[in-house]
Amino acid sequence: MLTLPKNKFQPFFTDLMTKAVQQNHIFAGFNVFSLDDAYEIVKAAEKIGAPVMLMVNKLAVDLFPIDMWADALNMLTRHASVPVCGHLDHTTDLTVLERACKAGFDSVMFDGSQLPLEENIRQTRQVVELAHGLGVAVEAEIGAVGYSDGAGGAAYHAAKTDPAEAGRFARETGVDWLAVSIGNVHRMETQDAVINFDLLHEIERETEVPLVLHGSTGIKDGDMQKLLPTHVAKVNIGTALRMAFGNTLRQEFEKDAAAFDRSKLFRLPLQRIREEAEKKMTMLGCAGIIK
Ligand code: G3H
Ligand code: ZN
Repeated sequence: MLTLPKNKFQPFFTDLMTKAVQQNHIFAGFNVFSLDDAYEIVKAAEKIGAPVMLMVNKLAVDLFPIDMWADALNMLTRHASVPVCGHLDHTTDLTVLERACKAGFDSVMFDGSQLPLEENIRQTRQVVELAHGLGVAVEAEIGAVGYSDGAGGAAYHAAKTDPAEAGRFARETGVDWLAVSIGNVHRMETQDAVINFDLLHEIERETEVPLVLHGSTGIKDGDMQKLLPTHVAKVNIGTALRMAFGNTLRQEFEKDAAAFDRSKLFRLPLQRIREEAEKKMTMLGCAGIIK
């Protein structure tokens, strides 16, 4: 059983990621777009006693300034009875990353997946030096996880992770956890990803750093179970919650096309977000980690 520290717990979450590998569970990082969906996820995590990560991506930063996101996530963290890690997801701009670290994010992801290896290593190392100096954890990506809907742009180059490169990348950058590409694909609306477990095990032989899988909406429940005893310590989930919200909202409008009251319209869609988050975290073995 773990007790919750009173101080800001970034090093605590880093420690949790290592424990996740040792204790065969996986944390969920959920994309959030507003205070209300973030709060539903925290309530789900509290209900089952699970640490959770709330991830802000570029779309969310376009909706709401990054410094305010940091404050909002820290406010949720302070009020939560479980560890909540505020994370900046998929960022390429070093200035934005610096701003996020200074604003109070617990962890940031530098996404150098589209850079040549040497440049990815160089820039990731730069982010690690800056972030660690401010007590912020760093995730980076080696290989490149594709986008099923083309959201990465026409020039985006998806590539599976090379195990030797992963080992070198982890050693030379000092990242806290590492996103890998092993058949996982972003934005899948069905669970059709073909996960290459042999490749995952090769990567595990090259590095002990906790691993992250992006695009985890597309991973089959059975494969998630098979991932529990591996070095994967976090899976990123976005589309599953967006579908839960959007599809339920559509049904609300189908019931009443003239409806306009946000507080009523969002009641069920937000409840579905909470249910979906709880289902995913329970499946990942996170229930009861915090008593
Ligand atoms: O960084 C975000 C995640 O990788 C979410 O992926 O929307 O396919 O679940 P997903
Ligand atoms: Zn991602």
